[in-house]
Amino acid sequence: MKAIITALLLAAAGLAHAAPNNASPIYGVTLPDGYRKWQFIAPAHETPPLDELRVVVGNPVAMAAIEKNQLPFPDGTVLVKLAWKHVQSTESPAAYVPGAASTVQVMVKDSKKYASTGGWGFGRFINGKPADEAQHQTCWGCHQALVKNHDFVFTRLAP
Ligand code: HEC
Repeated sequence: MKAIITALLLAAAGLAHAAPNNASPIYGVTLPDGYRKWQFIAPAHETPPLDELRVVVGNPVAMAAIEKNQLPFPDGTVLVKLAWKHVQSTESPAAYVPGAASTVQVMVKDSKKYASTGGWGFGRFINGKPADEAQHQTCWGCHQALVKNHDFVFTRLAP
């Protein structure tokens, strides 16, 4: 009996540790469930050296705000950017297609929790694991500097 209780306690401790390990440094943002089925907002192409294809998707709160041209985005908005290496199709060389997945990036709107960064929490994930703190120190600076007039969000709905 004692062994079973000890095993259960150890399992519970493991679960308690699992969450922070998968959360981004500084912000504590995790990969949202089901984002692969979210609605499409726009594609993007990052020039070399990164040379990536990207797609930005939004949760239902984000999509409703975009439809109404609502700025700032309301609390509960989540935007996800998926990225892949940009590779030439082996079947049809005129086409470029997604290669290996590189990063999945997340922005979560919570105006109280993230008041010091425009209401946005940031997360960058590589193979499902959060990138290091140094990378997370760059997010706010760039978004703040370049898209202040659009609630710190670059992506607009593709026409
Ligand atoms: C040097 C500038 C720069 C830095 C640093 C940066 N981003 Fe971005 N981010 C962009 C640009 C430009 C886009 C627009 C889409 C694209 O080009 O891929 C973007 C788009 C996004 C999007 C989709 C929503 C939007 O604003 O369009 C998310 C989510 C995102 N970035 C998260 C992050 C995270 C997380 C970090 C830090 C780990 C980060 N970004 C760091 C420039 C930057």
